[in-house]
Amino acid sequence: MGSSVLAVVVAVGLFALAQAKQISFTDCGSQNGVIVAVDITPCSSEPCAFKRGQTVAVEVDFMSTLNNSSTAILTAFATIFGDKVPLNLAQPDACKLPGTTCPLLKSTLEKPVEQVVVPSNIPPIFIPIPLQVILTGDSNQNIFCGQVQVKIS
Ligand SMILES: *[C@@H]1O[C@H](CO)[C@@H](O)[C@H](O)[C@H]1NC(C)=O
Ligand SMILES: *[C@@H]1O[C@H](CO)[C@@H](O)[C@H](O)[C@H]1NC(C)=O
Repeated sequence: MGSSVLAVVVAVGLFALAQAKQISFTDCGSQNGVIVAVDITPCSSEPCAFKRGQTVAVEVDFMSTLNNSSTAILTAFATIFGDKVPLNLAQPDACKLPGTTCPLLKSTLEKPVEQVVVPSNIPPIFIPIPLQVILTGDSNQNIFCGQVQVKIS
């Protein structure tokens, strides 16, 4: 009986792992930071497939090369047929997100988790499109720009 309980625990653990996934990303011009990892939940395989109107959790693990930035504002865009479409974020102020401590200190790992809303007023797109997440610090300085490919149906 003990082993069947263990099997359930392991199965649930694997399921949870399958739900949050480290995603391959490209750097789209980070000027004052380094992205270490990007996780998206839910995402079972790449490119992540989202539905219009869905809210997804995007975690960007990064280290700033600016020291002591008390500003950390996130923006996100999807590029759809050449148009840069801004995405709604639940909390653009990364200082208020779980996983982030402000002021941002140089070379300190931060792991903000943002809720990103997939627009509902776009056509379904069956080819992968780029989604960019940008963090801006004090004096409007770019900290990072990270890009992943996603599909929206
Ligand atoms: C850190 O930033 C705050 C607010 O911008 C400023 O008052 C303080 O002097 C800064 N500290 C250092 C060590 O630069
Ligand atoms: C970064 O800024 C903090 C103040 O917020 C200061 O205490 C620290 O010494 C600074 N670190 C570096 C590497 O400049």
